[in-house]
Amino acid sequence: MALTTQVTERDLHRLDRLIAEQETIFLSRQRRSAELASRANRSLAGGVTSSWQISRPQPIWISHGKGSRVFDADGNEYVDLHGGYGVMAAGHAHPKVVEAVSARAAKGTHFAQPTEDAIVVAENLAGRFGLPLWRFANSGTEATMDAVHLMRAATGRWKVVKVEGTYHGHHDSVQVSVYEPLEELGPPDHPWSAPASTGIPPEIVRLTIVVPFNDLPALERVFAEHDGEIAGLIVEPVMMNAGIIPPDPGYLEGTREITRRHGALLAYDEVKTGLTVGPGGATGLYGVTPDIVCLAKAMGGGLSGAAIGGTAEVMDCIVRRDYDQVGTFNGNPLLMAAARVVLTEILTDEAYQHIDALRDQMAAGIERVIGETGLPAHVVAMGAKGCVTFSPTPVRNYREFLAIDDRFSHCHWLYQMAGGVLLPPWGKTEQWMLSVQHRPEDVERFLGNFERFAGALRS
Ligand SMILES: Cc1ncc(COP(=O)(O)O)c(C=O)c1O
Repeated sequence: MALTTQVTERDLHRLDRLIAEQETIFLSRQRRSAELASRANRSLAGGVTSSWQISRPQPIWISHGKGSRVFDADGNEYVDLHGGYGVMAAGHAHPKVVEAVSARAAKGTHFAQPTEDAIVVAENLAGRFGLPLWRFANSGTEATMDAVHLMRAATGRWKVVKVEGTYHGHHDSVQVSVYEPLEELGPPDHPWSAPASTGIPPEIVRLTIVVPFNDLPALERVFAEHDGEIAGLIVEPVMMNAGIIPPDPGYLEGTREITRRHGALLAYDEVKTGLTVGPGGATGLYGVTPDIVCLAKAMGGGLSGAAIGGTAEVMDCIVRRDYDQVGTFNGNPLLMAAARVVLTEILTDEAYQHIDALRDQMAAGIERVIGETGLPAHVVAMGAKGCVTFSPTPVRNYREFLAIDDRFSHCHWLYQMAGGVLLPPWGKTEQWMLSVQHRPEDVERFLGNFERFAGALRS
């Protein structure tokens, strides 16, 4: 029977107690990892290889992965729903990826000259995303950096618009208003361009104008206020660094119309959504085609790489050498071999049907537990991605997301860890990631842990 869907003081006190209990359990299962963490502190800055790998109470050191599972340095086995921050749509050590990469490695891994696989990958992406011309890069950050450069090169304007609270990687133009606390965001109808990191010159920060997600009047207003100065809008069509926030009906169509009317470009950051929410990413799912699409993460089957697709008009800046899109490792043969097999043989229509069925099983199970316990939460899921949002009502933008108490997702994460499921750290900002190699029993393990967590919180 549903109890109540409001967050109570009792919930918060209980969360504090459960977190303390679960962190003790976590540490007792991670003794070898603790040794590695302490050794790492002497040679790796901050003890990890990227600050996104820090987790509380300590980073998780991985030994290996196979199929839907990963194993930590202590030998604990987990159903992997972290997916390396949304990369592992193919699952771990997929036989076709292993075969393609091994075959390529045996024939040489790098020439800084194109290989035929690059054409097959570009043709496949063109078919999926409805954009004719493609280039490759090495990370999502590079892809969105190229997108910003291209928007500026194609329009001859300097300013870009981004959405409050979105993460597009760590280059200067998009390191503005990312995970800022409320006091640094400015008025809701006129958000500030808040630098998201030190080391970003204010002159560059000022060129990035911030708007709330799902707010077309705000977008109209900034285009009016900066008339003729805005090169384009970069947007995640589904916000995926704030749990999952879908676009309101008509929002994406509105961004398309407004940017076009003002002679500006529209770039979709599909680093997370591309190839995971459906075969053609959010572009295919919502049927609104931007001028530029940025991909990375899931395209390489676990190898680092990225792609930028664009209209003939935009990509002509590259064709004419107006904008030099370059990089020693762009189109690296290993990545191209892996991406070819991922796109043409692994992420097939049947694979998406398999993932959709698991997603439905996941969402239905979570909804049942929420219904029975009255947990102040709801589930948002699309394609391989999903999350439990610890708010009784839907979240439409970053400020609403910010209001959610972080303790819910941290405690949930610890329960999943103790029960053999690895979710991404960074609690409420992240999502689960299913793969073609996950099975219904993997979902059942997640649901069992979720039920235990909800029961402990609401007993
Ligand atoms: C939406 C989005 N864009 C860009 C990036 C940057 O990608 P990368 O970490 O490969 O540089 C990320 C990384 O998480 C992301 O989530």
